[in-house]
Amino acid sequence: MEKIFVLSRNLIYKMQTEETFMHFLLKHQQKNNRTLNFVILMEAILSAAREIAHQYDLSAIRKNTGKSGSQNTHGEKTFALDEMAHKIVMEQLKGSGQVMEATSEENPKEIRLNDDGRYFLYFDPLDGSANIEHNLPVGFLFGIGKRNLEGDEDYHIRKGIEFIASGMFTLPQGIFTFALKNSGAWRFIREETGAYVRPEKIEFPKQKKSWILSFNTSYRNYYDKKITNWINNNENKYGFRYGGSLAIDFHRLLNTGGLFMYPAIVNHTDSSKNQPKGKLRLMYEANVVAMIAKEAGGMAINDRGEDIMEINPKDRHERTGIYVGSEELVEEIRKILIQ
Ligand code: AHG
Ligand code: MN
Ligand code: MN
Repeated sequence: MEKIFVLSRNLIYKMQTEETFMHFLLKHQQKNNRTLNFVILMEAILSAAREIAHQYDLSAIRKNTGKSGSQNTHGEKTFALDEMAHKIVMEQLKGSGQVMEATSEENPKEIRLNDDGRYFLYFDPLDGSANIEHNLPVGFLFGIGKRNLEGDEDYHIRKGIEFIASGMFTLPQGIFTFALKNSGAWRFIREETGAYVRPEKIEFPKQKKSWILSFNTSYRNYYDKKITNWINNNENKYGFRYGGSLAIDFHRLLNTGGLFMYPAIVNHTDSSKNQPKGKLRLMYEANVVAMIAKEAGGMAINDRGEDIMEINPKDRHERTGIYVGSEELVEEIRKILIQ
């Protein structure tokens, strides 16, 4: 919305007023008779995203994009920025006072925060680390569960279907995609003031002409034969894009429709490179995009054709194969997987 103020005969001030994420969320909470605790938590998450984006820009300028010298819980060498992003999110979560327990990709164990907090947070503070050294876009993903308000909390790891919200930021540009349980998915953009503005409801496009496939094609012959065959027989019907960061690839997929997949790797010529459980992590990658997909009219399944959000997590860092995107295409894959 544009407002024009005439300050003097020669001075005209045009003000662009956009609905902010906070306004959007406050309206939602009020309409549904919800608490402000969730708004405080979301403000902390947005602040963390702004700070990570800032640090990402600074690191690129200072060429400080190297490895940290240590490994994460998956045995992967982490970048200094992975650790910095984790610390930034943790500081914000502590400050909010709203989180009972947090799970981060960069911390092997759960992190107990505030016994009176209402929420469980699962997050990947910096997604697509391999893009860092090229100054290419990365992401920050999170899923939110709620404490048991009726009785004693058992601290179980939440299934995706128990998430009340999930979201992802593309960084450093600042696109924020946010899903609210049974309400929908929206996208916001960060303006110069740092506010996330202009809610845009997201639905996967039904028209197939824009659909794309997105997967790491260097592994195409190493997937289960059924998937390799499906790719060989169907890829020419669709465009293809892959950026190497789930947040970025999934952001584009929401615009175009189609299928993102990271199947289990079971037929590698070097069997030590097989990833029979897949690569992506259930709690802070797969469930996050599965929830957004569901709220945008799509779906997500694992290598057994099961709904990602129905998986009962045994470990907060467990991996899963994933096929996510337009319902029709994911259904097509499901039929092949369960044959
Ligand atoms: P992270 O940087 O948090 O470890 O995640 C990387 C993930 C995900 O973002 C991306 O979709 C995938 O790994 C890319 O893997 P490949 O490089 O094997 O394609
Ligand atoms: Mn990741
Ligand atoms: Mn990460």
